Amino acid sequence: MEIKVVENVKTIESDILIVNLFEGEKTSNDLANEYAITQDNFKGKFGETYLLQTYGKEPFRKVLVLGLGKKEEFCPNKLREAVAKAVKKCMQMEAKRIAFSLDGIEFDYSEQFAMGIYIADYKFDKYKSEKKNNKIQEVYVQAGEEGIKKGEKIAAAMTFARNLANEPAQFATPSELASIALDLGLETKIYDKDECEKMGMGAFLAVARGSAKPPKFIHMKYTCENPKKRIAIIGKGLCFDSGGLDIKPASSMLTMRDDMSGAAAVLGVMSIIKEFNPQVEVHGIIAACENMPGCDAYKPGDILTAKNGKTIEVDNTDAEGRLTLADALCYACELGVDEVIDLATLTGACMVALGSCAAGIMGNDDELIKRLIDAGARNGERMWQLPMWEEYFESLKSEIADMKNSGARWGGASAAGLFLQKFVKDVKWAHIDIAGTAFLDKPQKELISGASGAGVRTLLGYILEQ
Ligand code: BES
Ligand code: MN
Ligand code: ZN
Repeated sequence: MEIKVVENVKTIESDILIVNLFEGEKTSNDLANEYAITQDNFKGKFGETYLLQTYGKEPFRKVLVLGLGKKEEFCPNKLREAVAKAVKKCMQMEAKRIAFSLDGIEFDYSEQFAMGIYIADYKFDKYKSEKKNNKIQEVYVQAGEEGIKKGEKIAAAMTFARNLANEPAQFATPSELASIALDLGLETKIYDKDECEKMGMGAFLAVARGSAKPPKFIHMKYTCENPKKRIAIIGKGLCFDSGGLDIKPASSMLTMRDDMSGAAAVLGVMSIIKEFNPQVEVHGIIAACENMPGCDAYKPGDILTAKNGKTIEVDNTDAEGRLTLADALCYACELGVDEVIDLATLTGACMVALGSCAAGIMGNDDELIKRLIDAGARNGERMWQLPMWEEYFESLKSEIADMKNSGARWGGASAAGLFLQKFVKDVKWAHIDIAGTAFLDKPQKELISGASGAGVRTLLGYILEQ
């Protein structure tokens, strides 16, 4: 599908012309004004649509009136959502060429317009032997070319991430993630098990031991001349989380191929970063492995030594993400970057707290957290800051090691954050728990069910504003 910027969408031959309608106002199309508004009393409430035929009298075969709600509540996020709704409608009607009139909407909304189009156009049907023929081929619009290009790239990074996270674990293995990383054309180093051992990554490697699939530690680097800032982004890369010996019940395991959504987001960002050419250095880091109960699996009661020398008593093998992240955080801190941001499907507790409408965010620097929350909010990703009070660490205290990897059930998202903090040294750090937002069980706004590409918009929004 392609978005084409044109001078006048109303002269283009298309299957559908979409015209917008603010509640209580008029559209830019006389037919719509007469039939939808005057005769049928169509109000233009947010997301509502009304369809008209043009019977060969116009270059467009139909008109779809798209309700944008109250003008005073309108914003770029609303446009993206509304556009996505219209695209879904057009797909149902199997329209191939659609024209969008954005009369009365500012040019700097173009970026979110493009995102709405491409996000709504997504589906994961590669394993369907019969594919639905409802793909839109061309979208015509009068809009800002630059914004359209930017939105298109961000959406492409999301699609990249969504495809990876939707991919069955049988294919999206640690080795596969490594080979995908190598194909991005960045400076990339893959560390195998032996090299990880030499680096002292005892926590990450313990998690990987129960799987027949070898672990891969991935480090990608994008750089430019005189970077203004150096940032490391880390993605939790559990290609499958069975829980290990503390095995999960069947219903909880069903979607655990999504436990590499953080990694998928990092790969998505790194896949597009050269095209943006930002004036910052960005390191993409993933400790990729599977958490399986194989014959050499790590066991409750084991004591692990992380890269920074800290010892961890295994309380529950299902609290594996923080173990892999512990070593990845140590590695990132040693790079001497200014900021470290990790993205992880880390805790069911975060999902209980915030559901699927917001990710949890924590860290050691309120300014960084605030900027990330703002970058997300501008691009349609909500985050909510969770507390990091020391009391949450109480139940992670161990009699025989420096800490345990799990403890009390309550406040689990914050406890996990405090655990991670023990592996962060001399750097600004933020941790984003995307357990609730990465994989949707039902459609939500512009997203269909399944992998959402959570974190991509936030990270790119943040990187590009530096
Ligand atoms: N990957 C899970 C967290 C998760 C749960 C992500 C649901 C997405 C949806 C993580 O590894 C996990 O199992 N966490 C445990 C931690 C507990 C054992 C301390 C949890 O949240 O139950
Ligand atoms: Mn787990
Ligand atoms: Zn997990």
